[in-house]
Parts: sequence; C-alpha cells; structure tokens
Amino acid sequence: MDKVVTCVAPVNIAVIKYWGKRDEHLILPLNDSVSLTLDCDQMHTKTSIIAGPFITEDCVWLNGQIMSIERNERLKKCFDLIRNLIKIQKGENSQEVKWKIRVCSENNFPTAAGLASSAAGYACLVYTLANAFGLVNGDLPSIARQGSGSACRSIYGGFVQWTAGVDDQGYDSTAVQIAADTHWPEMRIIILVVNDSKKKTSSTVGMKQAVKTSELLKYRIQKCVPERTKEIIQAITDKNFEKFAEITMRDSNQFHAICLDTYPPCVYLNQVSHEIISFVHDYNEATGQIKVSYTFYAGPNAFLFIQQIDLSLFMSELVNVFPTMQPNSSYLRGIVSTLPNNVKPYGFKSKDKDLLKYIMVTKLGNGPKCVDDHLLNSDGTLKSKIE
Ligand code: DP6
Repeated sequence: MDKVVTCVAPVNIAVIKYWGKRDEHLILPLNDSVSLTLDCDQMHTKTSIIAGPFITEDCVWLNGQIMSIERNERLKKCFDLIRNLIKIQKGENSQEVKWKIRVCSENNFPTAAGLASSAAGYACLVYTLANAFGLVNGDLPSIARQGSGSACRSIYGGFVQWTAGVDDQGYDSTAVQIAADTHWPEMRIIILVVNDSKKKTSSTVGMKQAVKTSELLKYRIQKCVPERTKEIIQAITDKNFEKFAEITMRDSNQFHAICLDTYPPCVYLNQVSHEIISFVHDYNEATGQIKVSYTFYAGPNAFLFIQQIDLSLFMSELVNVFPTMQPNSSYLRGIVSTLPNNVKPYGFKSKDKDLLKYIMVTKLGNGPKCVDDHLLNSDGTLKSKIE
C-alpha cells in the first residue's frame, strides 16, 4: 500500500447504556446496549493511514499530539488484531504483516468534552486500517471493541445493538445493525454542550468501581436491561417515538442512579443537567405527549431526541429557556434552520444566560466511509505543520 487511505467515522449515542465489564482485558460487557449512530457531517473522527516498507516505525498522531503505541495497551491491541487479520486473510508470509503503519487522526469536535470521542476514534482507526489493507469480511466491531467498548457500535449506521454474549473469549460479543438510518429519517438529535470544566472519572474507571460496589447494577443487568432492550428494539421497529423516548429517559436515569450507588459515588450530572431534565419533562407535560427525550453520558452534556416535525417549536422554547449572549450563528450549530423570533409557545421562564456553551442539531447517519481529503501526504508526512 503506497497511498494514503482516509476515512471518517461517527459518534454513537447509547440509549441502553453499556456500564460494566465481564472481562476487563477483552473489553466484554456485562449487558447488551443499544445506540443510534449520528451523521458524520456534524461530528466525526477523521483518520488517514499509510503503511509500507518506507515507514520506519508504527506511529499515531492524535489531534496534533504523538501517542506512544507501546505504552497504550488498547491502541497496541488494535494494531495486533489487524495484523492477525492480515495473516488470516493474506497468509502468514504476507509482506504487509511486517509493514509499519503511520496514522494521523483528528476530531472535528472537542475531544475532552464528553461527546463520545473515543467511540468515533477507535471505530475510525479500525475501519481505516481494514480499508487500507483491503481486509474484507473481518469482524471489525470486535476489534474496535478492544480499543473502547462503545466503539464497536460506531462501525454501523442507524440503530445498533451490541450483544454482551456469554463466551469467555467474546466470540459472541459484537455489534449488529437493528435498522438503517433510513428507517427513521425524521429522528433528530440535539446536543446541549454544558459549560463545565470539572474533571470527571473516566468511563473505564467509573464502570469498574460500579461493578465492584453497586448493588443496583446487579439488578439492572439481570432484570432491567433484558426487558428494556427487547422493548426499545420493538419501539424502533414500530417507530413508536413515545415508547422509545420513555425507555431512553428511564435508562439514562438508572445509569446515573448506579453512578450514585457506586462507592465512592461518581457524579457526572451537574445543576444544568438537572435543569435540562426538568425542562424536558415540563415541556412534555405542557404538550400532553412525549415529544422529546434525553440521555446523558459520563458527563453533564445532554443528548435530546425529537422528531423533525416537532423540532422548530421546541428549539424556539429551548433558546428562550437557555438564552445566550452569543449570536445565534455560533450558539446554534448543525442542521438547524432560522428560528422564528421570540416565539415562546409555552412561555417557560428564562434561566441565566450562557448555561450552555452551544447547541448542535444533527440526524442519524449510515456509518463510517472513505473520503479523499487526507491528513497525510503520500510520503507519510503530516499535511498540517505539527511535525
Ligand atoms: C456511558 O466505551 O468509553 O458512554 O470500554 O472502558 O473504553 P471503555 O468505556 P467506554 O464507555 C462508554 C460508557 C457510556 C455508555 C455507552 O456508550 O454505552
């Protein structure tokens, strides 16, 4: 391979959360999870790769910083698993197994903002490596999973389930698509990026502590997740928004209850997160229907789900309730059309200004893809001047 291969991969938002591992090393989960894959246009990781005899060492540049592969067990694992796949598909003696690989990767959204960047990052790395080496029919989700669990779901578009499986080696723990993005094209996702600088416990550490100490987690895994997974897949199949939305909110709330049940507790939501939760419930109450739902990750940012038909009215109320000093052009990002001025359909009270950093509106996407806009030159040097 003497040319650069570049791909983009999306973020995915879990509506049934993965929280807890049955195997730390192989990154095998204790429970199934379900997610929605977002469109790459608004948020993605882009990764360029070149490999060949002229590259002298494996090397990964991530957002302008060089990463040590030897010291990063997960990164190394992904490289090793891809080289194994090359051996399986191209033969033990294939020259390509020995080639060193140069990777340059960038997110088009803030990496540390708790916006599921590691999922997009590892999915992109694995997908780009597979494309660069022409590896067909490999179980890419299972390789991406070993970079970061949630990454296995970003290999597919639309609605995705990651099955926990029972096999010790994890052969039955992989991601499958439940439905394509085109199944529910009216679905919109609103991301509320909350102003917050506090350092949070990482997902990896938080879930490890939860497995050790939370009684509630056991109940969730045995009872709640199996029932909810079945129900939400049915709701997705039927495009039953109210059912989908209710399960989403209940699962997010239970996940954060488990974080509090962890000892010492992991507190990921802040005051603004709680104000968003109240506002969503008040809004649904006022409309007499579940029009919008929320889910939160291991951080204070909110991911809201709503259908296109209800978007404009909700957005008008949202910007009234969470006002800003910024011009709307920087506050409102993504696929949002101009909002009617000063429409307050339900007249909720405005909160303090700039509780949110910005609001991003996006839709579902169809998964990773190859693009032509490379981050590396054909001699392996970086296109930007960080080297
Ligand atoms: C709250 O996939 O980041 O986003 O497997 O240790 O890398 P590791 O954890 P990670 O955890 C994601 C947790 C979550 C829920 C989810 O995505 O399902």
